[in-house]
Amino acid sequence: MSNHATACVLAFALGWGSAATAAAAQEPIIIKFSHVVATGTPKGQAAERFKERAEQLTRGRVRVEVYPNSQLYKDKEELEALQLGAVQMLAPSLAKFGPLGVKEFEAFDLPYIFPTKAALYAVTEGPIGKGLLKKLEPKGIVGLAYWDNGFKVMSANRPLHAPADFRGLRMRIQGSKVLDAQMRALGAYPMPLAFSDAYPALQSGLVDGTENPPSNMYTQRMHEVQKYLTVSNHGYLGYAVIVNKKFWDGLPSDVRGQLEQAMREATGFEKQIAQRDNDAALAAIRKTGHTTIYTLTPQQQAEWRRALLPVQQQMADRIGRDLIESINRATSQVR
Ligand code: LMR
Repeated sequence: MSNHATACVLAFALGWGSAATAAAAQEPIIIKFSHVVATGTPKGQAAERFKERAEQLTRGRVRVEVYPNSQLYKDKEELEALQLGAVQMLAPSLAKFGPLGVKEFEAFDLPYIFPTKAALYAVTEGPIGKGLLKKLEPKGIVGLAYWDNGFKVMSANRPLHAPADFRGLRMRIQGSKVLDAQMRALGAYPMPLAFSDAYPALQSGLVDGTENPPSNMYTQRMHEVQKYLTVSNHGYLGYAVIVNKKFWDGLPSDVRGQLEQAMREATGFEKQIAQRDNDAALAAIRKTGHTTIYTLTPQQQAEWRRALLPVQQQMADRIGRDLIESINRATSQVR
Protein backbone atom coordinates (compact mmCIF):
# COMPACT_ATOMS: atom_id res chain seq x y z
CA MET A 1 0.00 0.00 0.00
CA SER A 2 1.26 3.50 -0.82
CA ASN A 3 1.98 5.97 1.98
CA HIS A 4 -1.02 8.01 0.95
CA ALA A 5 -3.31 4.97 1.09
CA THR A 6 -1.93 4.02 4.51
CA ALA A 7 -2.65 7.51 5.78
CA CYS A 8 -6.22 7.32 4.47
CA VAL A 9 -6.83 3.95 6.13
CA LEU A 10 -5.37 5.30 9.37
CA ALA A 11 -7.50 8.41 9.27
CA PHE A 12 -10.55 6.26 8.61
CA ALA A 13 -9.66 3.92 11.49
CA LEU A 14 -9.24 6.85 13.85
CA GLY A 15 -12.46 8.40 12.68
CA TRP A 16 -12.62 11.94 11.32
CA GLY A 17 -13.93 13.21 14.62
CA SER A 18 -10.94 12.20 16.69
CA ALA A 19 -8.51 13.32 13.96
CA ALA A 20 -10.10 16.76 14.12
CA THR A 21 -9.85 16.76 17.93
CA ALA A 22 -6.18 15.81 17.76
CA ALA A 23 -5.52 18.67 15.33
CA ALA A 24 -7.43 21.09 17.54
CA ALA A 25 -5.42 20.03 20.58
CA GLN A 26 -2.27 21.14 18.78
CA GLU A 27 -3.65 24.54 17.80
CA PRO A 28 -1.85 27.16 19.88
CA ILE A 29 -3.79 29.52 22.14
CA ILE A 30 -3.49 32.96 20.56
CA ILE A 31 -2.97 36.12 22.60
CA LYS A 32 -3.40 39.28 20.57
CA PHE A 33 -1.52 42.02 22.42
CA SER A 34 -2.35 45.44 21.03
CA HIS A 35 -0.65 48.70 22.00
CA VAL A 36 -0.25 52.21 20.67
CA VAL A 37 3.48 52.99 20.96
CA ALA A 38 6.54 52.10 18.88
CA THR A 39 8.32 48.76 19.37
CA GLY A 40 11.46 50.63 20.48
CA THR A 41 9.81 52.14 23.58
CA PRO A 42 10.01 50.51 27.03
CA LYS A 43 6.44 49.20 26.65
CA GLY A 44 7.06 47.99 23.09
CA GLN A 45 10.20 46.10 24.09
CA ALA A 46 8.55 44.56 27.16
CA ALA A 47 5.63 43.32 25.04
CA GLU A 48 8.17 41.58 22.80
CA ARG A 49 9.94 40.11 25.84
CA PHE A 50 6.63 38.81 27.17
CA LYS A 51 5.90 37.18 23.80
CA GLU A 52 9.31 35.50 23.72
CA ARG A 53 9.10 34.14 27.28
CA ALA A 54 5.41 33.17 27.05
CA GLU A 55 6.08 31.11 23.94
CA GLN A 56 9.19 29.50 25.46
CA LEU A 57 7.66 28.71 28.84
CA THR A 58 4.48 27.22 27.35
CA ARG A 59 6.55 25.33 24.74
CA GLY A 60 4.48 26.81 21.94
CA ARG A 61 1.08 26.12 23.48
CA VAL A 62 0.60 29.89 23.46
CA ARG A 63 1.37 32.20 20.58
CA VAL A 64 1.51 35.92 21.32
CA GLU A 65 0.87 38.31 18.43
CA VAL A 66 2.02 41.83 19.31
CA TYR A 67 0.44 44.69 17.34
CA PRO A 68 2.32 47.94 18.08
CA ASN A 69 1.75 51.56 17.00
CA SER A 70 -2.09 51.57 17.03
CA GLN A 71 -1.90 49.14 14.09
CA LEU A 72 -5.09 47.39 15.22
CA TYR A 73 -6.82 49.93 17.42
CA LYS A 74 -6.46 53.46 18.76
CA ASP A 75 -6.65 54.16 22.51
CA LYS A 76 -10.37 54.08 23.08
CA GLU A 77 -11.17 51.30 20.62
CA GLU A 78 -8.56 49.00 22.09
CA LEU A 79 -10.30 48.98 25.47
CA GLU A 80 -13.61 48.16 23.80
CA ALA A 81 -11.92 45.43 21.75
CA LEU A 82 -10.49 43.90 24.93
CA GLN A 83 -13.87 43.82 26.62
CA LEU A 84 -15.43 42.24 23.52
CA GLY A 85 -12.62 39.66 23.32
CA ALA A 86 -11.35 40.81 19.89
CA VAL A 87 -7.92 41.15 21.53
CA GLN A 88 -6.79 39.48 24.74
CA MET A 89 -4.09 41.76 26.16
CA LEU A 90 -3.30 45.49 26.31
CA ALA A 91 -1.09 47.85 28.29
CA PRO A 92 -2.90 51.21 28.25
CA SER A 93 -1.47 54.13 30.14
CA LEU A 94 -2.97 54.69 33.58
CA ALA A 95 -4.49 57.91 32.23
CA LYS A 96 -6.88 55.96 30.00
CA PHE A 97 -9.07 54.06 32.46
CA GLY A 98 -11.56 56.88 33.16
CA PRO A 99 -13.88 55.97 30.26
CA LEU A 100 -14.08 52.42 31.69
CA GLY A 101 -15.49 53.95 34.85
CA VAL A 102 -12.38 53.38 36.96
CA LYS A 103 -11.43 57.01 37.54
CA GLU A 104 -9.16 56.17 40.47
CA PHE A 105 -6.30 55.39 38.07
CA GLU A 106 -6.16 59.09 37.22
CA ALA A 107 -4.44 59.53 40.59
CA PHE A 108 -1.25 58.57 38.73
CA ASP A 109 -1.67 61.70 36.56
CA LEU A 110 -1.74 64.12 39.50
CA PRO A 111 1.09 66.65 39.22
CA TYR A 112 4.02 65.91 41.57
CA ILE A 113 2.28 62.97 43.28
CA PHE A 114 5.43 60.82 42.96
CA PRO A 115 8.67 62.53 44.00
CA THR A 116 10.78 59.57 42.79
CA LYS A 117 10.48 56.19 41.09
CA ALA A 118 10.98 54.52 44.47
CA ALA A 119 7.92 56.41 45.75
CA LEU A 120 5.96 55.26 42.71
CA TYR A 121 6.92 51.62 43.26
CA ALA A 122 5.79 51.88 46.89
CA VAL A 123 2.33 52.49 45.46
CA THR A 124 2.27 50.16 42.44
CA GLU A 125 3.87 47.23 44.24
CA GLY A 126 1.99 47.62 47.51
CA PRO A 127 -1.63 47.19 48.60
CA ILE A 128 -2.77 50.40 46.86
CA GLY A 129 -1.60 49.17 43.46
CA LYS A 130 -3.15 45.74 43.96
CA GLY A 131 -6.43 47.27 45.15
CA LEU A 132 -6.64 49.44 42.04
CA LEU A 133 -6.12 46.46 39.71
CA LYS A 134 -8.95 44.61 41.53
CA LYS A 135 -11.33 47.40 40.55
CA LEU A 136 -11.02 46.27 36.93
CA GLU A 137 -12.56 42.83 37.53
CA PRO A 138 -16.21 43.91 37.49
CA LYS A 139 -15.43 45.36 34.06
CA GLY A 140 -14.41 41.93 32.77
CA ILE A 141 -10.70 42.76 33.00
CA VAL A 142 -7.83 41.30 35.02
CA GLY A 143 -4.87 43.54 35.84
CA LEU A 144 -1.60 41.59 35.64
CA ALA A 145 1.15 44.14 36.25
CA TYR A 146 2.24 47.75 36.25
CA TRP A 147 4.73 48.73 33.58
CA ASP A 148 6.86 51.80 33.84
CA ASN A 149 7.57 54.64 31.49
CA GLY A 150 8.74 57.78 33.23
CA PHE A 151 8.38 61.38 34.23
CA LYS A 152 7.04 63.71 31.57
CA VAL A 153 8.55 66.64 29.72
CA MET A 154 6.58 69.47 28.09
CA SER A 155 7.07 70.68 24.53
CA ALA A 156 5.86 73.49 22.26
CA ASN A 157 7.12 75.89 19.64
CA ARG A 158 7.81 78.54 22.25
CA PRO A 159 10.05 78.23 25.31
CA LEU A 160 8.18 76.92 28.37
CA HIS A 161 10.03 78.21 31.43
CA ALA A 162 7.25 79.64 33.59
CA PRO A 163 3.57 78.70 33.97
CA ALA A 164 2.72 81.97 32.21
CA ASP A 165 4.39 80.67 29.05
CA PHE A 166 1.52 78.18 28.63
CA ARG A 167 -1.15 80.85 28.42
CA GLY A 168 -3.39 80.27 25.39
CA LEU A 169 -1.49 77.22 24.09
CA ARG A 170 -3.51 74.23 22.84
CA MET A 171 -1.89 71.25 24.50
CA ARG A 172 -2.52 67.67 23.41
CA ILE A 173 -3.32 65.44 26.37
CA GLN A 174 -4.48 61.88 26.97
CA GLY A 175 -8.17 61.59 27.83
CA SER A 176 -7.78 62.10 31.58
CA LYS A 177 -9.71 64.72 33.53
CA VAL A 178 -6.69 65.25 35.78
CA LEU A 179 -4.55 66.15 32.79
CA ASP A 180 -7.31 68.43 31.59
CA ALA A 181 -7.24 70.24 34.97
CA GLN A 182 -3.45 70.33 34.91
CA MET A 183 -3.35 72.16 31.56
CA ARG A 184 -6.10 74.56 32.65
CA ALA A 185 -4.12 75.34 35.82
CA LEU A 186 -1.32 76.50 33.51
CA GLY A 187 -3.70 78.67 31.47
CA ALA A 188 -3.54 76.34 28.44
CA TYR A 189 -6.38 74.70 26.48
CA PRO A 190 -6.34 70.93 26.90
CA MET A 191 -6.96 68.96 23.69
CA PRO A 192 -7.59 65.25 24.35
CA LEU A 193 -6.47 63.22 21.33
CA ALA A 194 -5.57 59.59 20.70
CA PHE A 195 -1.85 58.94 20.80
CA SER A 196 -1.77 58.12 17.09
CA ASP A 197 -3.29 61.53 16.34
CA ALA A 198 -0.75 63.49 18.40
CA TYR A 199 2.01 63.81 15.81
CA PRO A 200 -0.30 64.81 12.91
CA ALA A 201 -2.01 67.37 15.17
CA LEU A 202 1.34 68.88 16.18
CA GLN A 203 2.53 68.88 12.60
CA SER A 204 -0.57 70.58 11.19
CA GLY A 205 -0.74 73.10 14.03
CA LEU A 206 -4.08 71.79 15.32
CA VAL A 207 -2.31 71.72 18.67
CA ASP A 208 0.67 73.78 19.81
CA GLY A 209 2.33 71.48 22.30
CA THR A 210 2.18 68.31 24.33
CA GLU A 211 3.62 66.28 27.22
CA ASN A 212 5.07 62.76 27.39
CA PRO A 213 8.23 61.03 28.54
CA PRO A 214 11.09 61.50 26.03
CA SER A 215 10.90 57.89 24.74
CA ASN A 216 7.40 58.49 23.37
CA MET A 217 8.30 61.89 21.93
CA TYR A 218 11.40 60.60 20.19
CA THR A 219 9.94 57.40 18.73
CA GLN A 220 6.96 59.36 17.32
CA ARG A 221 9.36 62.04 15.97
CA MET A 222 7.43 64.76 17.80
CA HIS A 223 10.69 66.66 18.29
CA GLU A 224 10.75 67.30 14.54
CA VAL A 225 7.70 69.52 14.92
CA GLN A 226 8.44 70.96 18.39
CA LYS A 227 11.16 73.58 18.78
CA TYR A 228 11.29 73.67 22.58
CA LEU A 229 11.22 70.99 25.24
CA THR A 230 11.32 71.52 29.00
CA VAL A 231 12.53 68.84 31.38
CA SER A 232 9.90 69.51 34.03
CA ASN A 233 9.20 66.08 35.55
CA HIS A 234 5.82 67.48 36.59
CA GLY A 235 3.97 64.19 36.28
CA TYR A 236 4.29 60.50 35.60
CA LEU A 237 3.28 58.12 32.79
CA GLY A 238 2.98 54.38 33.34
CA TYR A 239 0.80 51.44 32.35
CA ALA A 240 -1.36 48.60 33.57
CA VAL A 241 -1.03 45.33 31.64
CA ILE A 242 -4.54 43.93 31.38
CA VAL A 243 -6.27 40.83 29.98
CA ASN A 244 -9.80 39.84 29.14
CA LYS A 245 -11.04 38.08 32.30
CA LYS A 246 -13.09 35.40 30.58
CA PHE A 247 -10.13 34.45 28.42
CA TRP A 248 -7.73 34.46 31.38
CA ASP A 249 -9.98 32.46 33.68
CA GLY A 250 -10.61 29.94 30.88
CA LEU A 251 -6.92 29.09 30.39
CA PRO A 252 -5.60 25.72 31.62
CA SER A 253 -4.10 26.50 35.03
CA ASP A 254 -0.59 25.32 34.08
CA VAL A 255 -0.59 27.66 31.08
CA ARG A 256 -1.86 30.56 33.21
CA GLY A 257 0.98 29.95 35.67
CA GLN A 258 3.54 29.97 32.86
CA LEU A 259 2.10 33.20 31.50
CA GLU A 260 2.25 34.76 34.97
CA GLN A 261 5.92 33.81 35.10
CA ALA A 262 6.51 35.34 31.64
CA MET A 263 4.76 38.50 32.81
CA ARG A 264 6.91 38.72 35.97
CA GLU A 265 10.04 38.46 33.83
CA ALA A 266 8.84 41.02 31.24
CA THR A 267 7.91 43.39 34.07
CA GLY A 268 11.35 43.12 35.69
CA PHE A 269 12.96 43.77 32.32
CA GLU A 270 10.67 46.73 31.61
CA LYS A 271 11.57 48.40 34.89
CA GLN A 272 15.26 48.00 34.16
CA ILE A 273 15.12 49.63 30.74
CA ALA A 274 12.53 52.40 31.19
CA GLN A 275 14.76 55.08 32.73
CA ARG A 276 17.72 54.21 30.54
CA ASP A 277 15.59 54.45 27.39
CA ASN A 278 14.14 57.79 28.41
CA ASP A 279 17.61 59.19 29.13
CA ALA A 280 18.81 57.90 25.75
CA ALA A 281 15.79 59.38 23.96
CA LEU A 282 16.39 62.80 25.53
CA ALA A 283 20.03 62.66 24.48
CA ALA A 284 18.99 61.64 20.95
CA ILE A 285 16.52 64.54 20.70
CA ARG A 286 19.26 66.91 21.87
CA LYS A 287 21.60 65.49 19.24
CA THR A 288 19.21 66.22 16.38
CA GLY A 289 19.77 69.92 17.15
CA HIS A 290 16.17 70.56 16.16
CA THR A 291 14.73 71.01 19.62
CA THR A 292 16.15 73.24 22.34
CA ILE A 293 16.09 71.36 25.63
CA TYR A 294 15.67 73.36 28.80
CA THR A 295 15.90 72.16 32.41
CA LEU A 296 13.99 74.16 35.02
CA THR A 297 15.96 75.94 37.74
CA PRO A 298 14.94 75.17 41.35
CA GLN A 299 13.15 78.53 41.47
CA GLN A 300 11.18 77.79 38.33
CA GLN A 301 10.35 74.34 39.65
CA ALA A 302 8.90 75.95 42.77
CA GLU A 303 6.79 78.24 40.57
CA TRP A 304 5.45 75.25 38.57
CA ARG A 305 4.63 73.43 41.78
CA ARG A 306 2.70 76.43 43.10
CA ALA A 307 0.65 76.51 39.90
CA LEU A 308 0.03 72.76 39.68
CA LEU A 309 -0.29 71.42 43.22
CA PRO A 310 -3.84 72.77 43.66
CA VAL A 311 -4.92 70.22 41.01
CA GLN A 312 -4.57 67.52 43.67
CA GLN A 313 -7.30 69.19 45.77
CA GLN A 314 -9.43 70.07 42.76
CA MET A 315 -9.54 66.44 41.62
CA ALA A 316 -9.96 64.89 45.07
CA ASP A 317 -13.71 64.37 44.71
CA ARG A 318 -13.29 62.63 41.37
CA ILE A 319 -10.45 60.36 42.39
CA GLY A 320 -11.16 59.91 46.08
CA ARG A 321 -9.69 61.97 48.89
CA ASP A 322 -8.80 58.81 50.82
CA LEU A 323 -6.92 57.36 47.87
CA ILE A 324 -4.87 60.53 47.41
CA GLU A 325 -4.11 60.62 51.13
CA SER A 326 -3.05 56.99 51.19
CA ILE A 327 -0.79 57.54 48.17
CA ASN A 328 0.79 60.55 49.87
CA ARG A 329 1.30 58.51 53.06
CA ALA A 330 2.91 55.61 51.15
CA THR A 331 5.23 57.88 49.16
CA SER A 332 6.27 59.99 52.15
CA GLN A 333 7.72 56.86 53.77
CA VAL A 334 10.27 56.39 50.98
CA ARG A 335 11.22 60.01 50.49
C1 LMR B 1 -0.15 58.83 25.26
O1 LMR B 1 -1.28 58.67 24.76
O2 LMR B 1 0.46 59.90 25.25
C2 LMR B 1 0.52 57.64 25.93
O3 LMR B 1 -0.41 57.04 26.76
C3 LMR B 1 0.98 56.64 24.95
C4 LMR B 1 1.52 55.42 25.66
O4 LMR B 1 0.86 54.40 25.63
O5 LMR B 1 2.62 55.53 26.20
